[in-house]
Amino acid sequence: MDCKKLLKKLTLKEKVMQITQLIPRMFDTDDTGALTGPIASLNISEEDLYNTGSVLNVYGAQKSISLQNRYLERNKHKIPMIIMQDVIHGYKTIYPIQLGLGASFNQEMVKECSSMAAKESSVDGVHLTFAPMVDLVRDARWGRVMESTGEDPYLNCVMSKAQVEGYQGDLGKYKVAGCVKHIAAYGASESGLDYNTVDMSERTLREYYLPAYKAAVDAGVEMVMTSFNTVEGIPSVGNKWLVDDVLRKEWGFNGVVISDFNAVRELITHGVAKDGKQAALMSINATTDIEMATTEYLQNVEQLIKEGKLSEKQIDDAVLRVLELKDKLGLFENPHKDTDVELAKEIVLCKEHRDLARKMAEESAVLLKNNGILPFNKNVKSVAVIGPHANTGNINGFWSYSADPKNTTTVLQGLKNYLGEDRVKYAFGCSAVLTDTDQSQIDEAVNLAKSCDAVILCVGEVETDSGEANSKSNIELTDLQYKLVERVVEANPNTAVALFTGRPLAIVKLNEIAPAILNMWMPGTEGGPALTNLMFGEVSPSGRLSMTFPASTGQCPIYYNHYNTGRPAPNREITYGYCASYIDGPTYPLYPFGYGLTYSEFEYSPVKLSSANMTIDGSITASVTVKNVGKRTAKEVVQMYIRDVYASVVRPVKELKGYKKIELAPNESQTVEFTITKEQLEFYGRDLVKRAEAGTFYVFIGKDSDVSEYAEFELV
Ligand code: NOJ
Repeated sequence: MDCKKLLKKLTLKEKVMQITQLIPRMFDTDDTGALTGPIASLNISEEDLYNTGSVLNVYGAQKSISLQNRYLERNKHKIPMIIMQDVIHGYKTIYPIQLGLGASFNQEMVKECSSMAAKESSVDGVHLTFAPMVDLVRDARWGRVMESTGEDPYLNCVMSKAQVEGYQGDLGKYKVAGCVKHIAAYGASESGLDYNTVDMSERTLREYYLPAYKAAVDAGVEMVMTSFNTVEGIPSVGNKWLVDDVLRKEWGFNGVVISDFNAVRELITHGVAKDGKQAALMSINATTDIEMATTEYLQNVEQLIKEGKLSEKQIDDAVLRVLELKDKLGLFENPHKDTDVELAKEIVLCKEHRDLARKMAEESAVLLKNNGILPFNKNVKSVAVIGPHANTGNINGFWSYSADPKNTTTVLQGLKNYLGEDRVKYAFGCSAVLTDTDQSQIDEAVNLAKSCDAVILCVGEVETDSGEANSKSNIELTDLQYKLVERVVEANPNTAVALFTGRPLAIVKLNEIAPAILNMWMPGTEGGPALTNLMFGEVSPSGRLSMTFPASTGQCPIYYNHYNTGRPAPNREITYGYCASYIDGPTYPLYPFGYGLTYSEFEYSPVKLSSANMTIDGSITASVTVKNVGKRTAKEVVQMYIRDVYASVVRPVKELKGYKKIELAPNESQTVEFTITKEQLEFYGRDLVKRAEAGTFYVFIGKDSDVSEYAEFELV
């Protein structure tokens, strides 16, 4: 399609509608075909409606086809709409939440999962997904941490790229366009409160928060969504420096930028725009192309152009980007792209997809504690499965609107499939809902626990405790669930806890009471079978924490790659001696970033460097030999961290700069090598220019971010 030629045919109004995104309700009709949606109240005419450039969250192949057909019948230029949707961690086959994907340290599988989500959603009518979300997260109170691959910029970059590649591929058959979000630094909302202010130095923004968005841009992502929050005092949607200068000019992004839901209008609420007109002006000047859900562009652009405040060229540039995306998606040739009602029935939730979802859930689960009871013996006579997450399909997690929890294989069902109906008994125990206090079913659960050989106790958060708008000021397990855990463990010490959560929880007490804890995150459609395989040793746990688990809510935000300060806490105990420590509880986290156990033990040799010196354009190799000294085949995530010991600005105590996930049989060993070049040593200097400085560097290689073994070299 010659998009430039097409653009010339459009009236200004038609152009503005191309950059307006509406919700599907606007297109609702009654039996006679008359529109029933609230368009009139928004001052949208019927003609405008049928010029809308895109629509969000239309569910199902049939709906998508009928809506597009009806639209095209009325659209003068036959320009199809882009149908966009939040396909976040799966479409109908749900795989673990992104914190789990990060924890898998397995980018190949993450890419496969994104590709599966693209396939399911594309046949069911979706052209573009609002994913990946790559906001760096350090504060577990923020409910949206579940959507992110975690607290580390390097891991987030790897996973950002993997997801973009998986969704988009070449944008051909069964692929959808991606939309990286939310630029920028939405994850740093103060107090972990959703939609709250973000305020940070440009150094921190560039060093930690921006890289994962840039990684998506470098991987060719087609769209970028701005964040709700302020960046340097200006909300992202209207922030010209962020969107135009950094994203477009500095990074070379020439795709479409979309606002978040309602965010253009929220410039008024933020207090940086007087009215809708100014909000539209700011956003368009920032080069935010599409306005999602509100109509400030529609209501104000003509006037702004008349007044000479905006040029029609600015609108043309935005519209051209939208038309070009439609062209890339092949919508002019086939406005339904891959949508296929019959094929959708075959592909969605097919065995191959369920198998992949199960493997991903196995790969991302993190064994947090094990006193030796796991794995359970599969010859066990009876197993009690207890708890609010034991017999429910609601273990998919937030952002799984397209999925039906009825299609999820529950923990109870997973165990029955594996052990047979007779050996598995179930009791509810108590609810996980924050406000519930009903203890009446705990006794029954305790009695069941007593009568069985082993217990799997499924506790944690409900799905809607995390995700958008679900911030918490207390991230402990509920008191009610603690009652259940205490009594069940007392009744039967052969109890393993399975944790279901959308965020790190402060579970010091659980760590004390429970003989074993397996963190399943929100595992998705095949969560039950994945848990079964892990707990019975068919698979050894291999996930490692993508986000620090704090010892208390008060420690948040907490992250491993912090600065040393002038007075670091010398040890893990409570200290009072004028150092950076709390006087009323631990300063160190409960489980650090990168942490996770498995059913075997690995021994690491000391770190070896190919040279004690490195020149700025040279490289050195760091290596360790890792040996499986346990009794089972298992995977290990070998992690390399670097510390710049002194520099012109302070540097973190450690930064992840490489990892390798390896699998070793008992007694097997492998030498793992990492190449270090100046890229891994660079940072933003005082002038905000990236450089590596001569001096001493420590190279740590080990099983998690607490590793203390290192070798040092000089950058000369
Ligand atoms: C608001 C959320 O912040 C964003 O992540 C999402 O893509 C949009 N709503 C559309 O649903």
